[in-house]
Amino acid sequence: MRIVLLGAPGAGKGTHCKRVAERYGIVHLSSGDILRRERAEGTPLGQQAQQYMDAGALVPDDLIVEMMSGAVRKASAGYVLDGFPRTVNQAEVLDRALAQNRQEIDAVINLQVDDRVVLERITGRRSCPKCGAVYHVKNMPPKVAGVCDKDGTPLVQRPDDTEGVVRNRLETYSRQTRPVVDYYRARRTVHDMDANGDADAVAAAIFQRLDPLAKR
Ligand code: AP5
Repeated sequence: MRIVLLGAPGAGKGTHCKRVAERYGIVHLSSGDILRRERAEGTPLGQQAQQYMDAGALVPDDLIVEMMSGAVRKASAGYVLDGFPRTVNQAEVLDRALAQNRQEIDAVINLQVDDRVVLERITGRRSCPKCGAVYHVKNMPPKVAGVCDKDGTPLVQRPDDTEGVVRNRLETYSRQTRPVVDYYRARRTVHDMDANGDADAVAAAIFQRLDPLAKR
């Protein structure tokens, strides 16, 4: 299965992509996670991406397209895309690459969430720098405060999760990524999902849409 999961910052893309990948045995490809790894390793791509990420702006398309094309090619048997495509140009490049291999996206899920909820979720998010597990100080706390349940690593807050940067990320989303939803809507069914509720309820609603596709 090849799935695109769209949504504003903090909508729950990472949270739900992990669950979708596990349930259907496909690869979770997060452009944000790959960029953060590149930054942590100090690669040229990571260094180039840093200033954009910290400002809440998008990393230029040419860098992203090169990075994600390789990842998508390697996982061509099945993946769920998280944070990519994020511009209409990225969506067009992805469609062209899929068409060349006679493939297409099986489902586009669009998580819809209120800005007020986003701010509360993002400022409370903590993640594990080692395994990437994501928590929330109130909604999804770890068993021991500040420590990853899986490997005991101290949890960290992302540098772009401050209120000022989150507002820029939301503005960037409205201007550059919302048109991607319209791009897909013009070409295929987009499954709009209310993602304001509890994470388990949102996941159950997503699985209800995807289970029939997995059985095909
Ligand atoms: P990226 O890492 O993709 O960040 P984002 O899109 O801003 O999304 P987030 O990771 O903040 O949120 P999420 O939707 O994954 O929410 P999560 O599940 O963690 O991108 C970062 C930056 O990289 C960009 O700003 C840009 O600079 C660059 N970049 C990345 N891709 C790019 C591209 N394609 N092109 C150009 N630049 C690119 O959930 C958030 C919190 O809420 C968590 O604490 C979670 O536990 C909690 N939570 C989630 N769901 C629920 C729920 N239902 N109820 C209660 N709590 C919940």
